[in-house]
Amino acid sequence: MSSVKNYINENKNQFVNELKDLLKIPSVSADSAYKKDVLNTANFVLKSLKEAGCDNVELCETPGYPIVYGEKIIDKNLPTVLVYGHYDVQPPDPINLWDSPPFEPVIKKTDLHPEGAIFARGACDDKGQMYMHVKALEYMTKTGNLPCNVKFMIEGEEEVGSESLSWFVPRNKEKLANDVILISDTGMIAKDVPSITTGLRGLSYVEVEVTGPNRDLHSGLYGGAVANPINILAKMIASLQDENNHITIPGFYDKVEDLSDEERAEMAKAPFSLEAYKKALDIADVYGEKGYTTNERNSIRPTLDVNGIWGGYTGEGAKTVIASKAYAKISMRLVPNQDWKEITELFKKHFESIAPKSVKVEVKPHHGGQGYVTPIDNIGYQAASKAYETTFGKTPIPQRSGGSIPIVSLFEQELGSKTILMGFGLDSDAIHSPNEHFGIWNYLKGIETIPHFYKYFTEMYTNQ
Ligand code: BES
Ligand code: MN
Ligand code: MN
Repeated sequence: MSSVKNYINENKNQFVNELKDLLKIPSVSADSAYKKDVLNTANFVLKSLKEAGCDNVELCETPGYPIVYGEKIIDKNLPTVLVYGHYDVQPPDPINLWDSPPFEPVIKKTDLHPEGAIFARGACDDKGQMYMHVKALEYMTKTGNLPCNVKFMIEGEEEVGSESLSWFVPRNKEKLANDVILISDTGMIAKDVPSITTGLRGLSYVEVEVTGPNRDLHSGLYGGAVANPINILAKMIASLQDENNHITIPGFYDKVEDLSDEERAEMAKAPFSLEAYKKALDIADVYGEKGYTTNERNSIRPTLDVNGIWGGYTGEGAKTVIASKAYAKISMRLVPNQDWKEITELFKKHFESIAPKSVKVEVKPHHGGQGYVTPIDNIGYQAASKAYETTFGKTPIPQRSGGSIPIVSLFEQELGSKTILMGFGLDSDAIHSPNEHFGIWNYLKGIETIPHFYKYFTEMYTNQ
């Protein structure tokens, strides 16, 4: 299939320009002010699927944003690959930290991307990675190289918890039936160290509200005599981890599976430089749960982090005040087996129990999702591995990631299929951060690698 390289060479400017057009539409699912843009993005994806050769392309309505669906069924006896991705993006804030406007994509060179990278919100997560699949399909249909059936399902609510999918997937099992699910919405270790993501963490996201006195008070007249909800909230949060950075919520670790020494040794073989890690983040030292390495802390261990905290006076100058209320948003990353609803309950119970009588506490659960881990002894993984070998000249390393894509475990539960996570982003691509970008090299390498996956998967499927 050397022709895929030629096809990319002939069309790469077009591929980059189309992605830029997609990135210009601000499809921020979290903010209803962008509703029109999110819908326009769905239509952009719909049109691109049609042009890439999909049949039966449609926008499927859900209680939230529509799902873009398309398929190319060439032979019922051949396997079917279901491609999943998302067309929504994270909010661009804080906007003033971007070097160029988040929805005006520009190409700039960086140390890791000397060929240039596209800077824009969603460049890597997930518009760029999703669009690789559209262009790979275009190549396969236009050149007669599509070896099997393919279905596309691209959603618009991943960044807000994919809530409509638990409605849509069970109602459309037949439509979504497949032999393997393929997703590019993760990363790889380095450009010269390809990896396949074999695990994702689950998530429980909650918001807490601590209420003290019924109104804001003068901090001189009342200070010291009533509970300050901000002080209390800070203490409560601090108590959620002990001196070893172990989470103190009773029952939190009950279902956490400990990896064997062999598994941990295997993990430790993945290339990693602690010095480079610290340097890239400008930190003097790392921090985390005692007894685990950095790579273990951010993948096979559960965590608890405050994502936002507010209350009281934060404007210019000083205001002497004891606020009536304090708030925090807290996320817990979970590992497979931990049930996110159960953990949310444990958190709620514990957080309410540690509050002093002088305040009221409310815990509001947000979204969540289950973790995922997949074995590598299946033809999906093996086909992906061979695809990387072909285009990178190296066997990819299986790697568990710290991020979450809740739909993956739902797919397994509802459709019974395994998901192969072929990510082409780098950790330094700044997803969810200002100056998000995606290397042109990575983008084109993805387009090149995907058709090989289809070919090997179909061969392995027919020979098994
Ligand atoms: N694509 C990311 C998840 C990801 C990134 C996994 C890199 C592994 C490596 C996805 O869009 C995302 O941001 N997921 C959210 C969870 C969701 C429920 C909001 C996350 O991980 O915070
Ligand atoms: Mn994503
Ligand atoms: Mn994301």
